[in-house]
Amino acid sequence: MKDFEPRIIAFLCNWCSYAGADLAGVSRFQYPPNIRVIRVMCSGSVSPHHVLHAFQRGADGVLVAGCHIGDCHYLKGNYMTVKRVKFLEGLLQFAGYDSARLRLEWISAAEGIKFAEVVRDFTEKIKQLGPAPSFEAVPERALGA
Ligand code: FES
Repeated sequence: MKDFEPRIIAFLCNWCSYAGADLAGVSRFQYPPNIRVIRVMCSGSVSPHHVLHAFQRGADGVLVAGCHIGDCHYLKGNYMTVKRVKFLEGLLQFAGYDSARLRLEWISAAEGIKFAEVVRDFTEKIKQLGPAPSFEAVPERALGA
């Protein structure tokens, strides 16, 4: 397990978290190269399907990051995100996944340091959890059988 390098998909809101990631890069804050960034217009546009598809395609962890509550450019987008992530945590547990494989963070455009810290911490947690179970290994009850 020592050599395990997790694959983490990061859905980053264009207006805050993506800019925070950009700032981390420009500022040369170090963070592990385990994340693959998908830029979205709002964290609220990340559907449960996107997250489940990421796990289905082999992600070991999924990070959803958006603007702080009250700062969403679409006003209520990140309130939707909170509800969806709660729903997904339950769904993942039901499917036999540790819900800690899904993480929600609020990262502003000025928080490059926070972005780097979150990626470091999340990568470490996923390393401790090990590789995600494949969808074939998901208990039949989760598939409605
Ligand atoms: Fe960033 Fe909605 S625009 S979370």
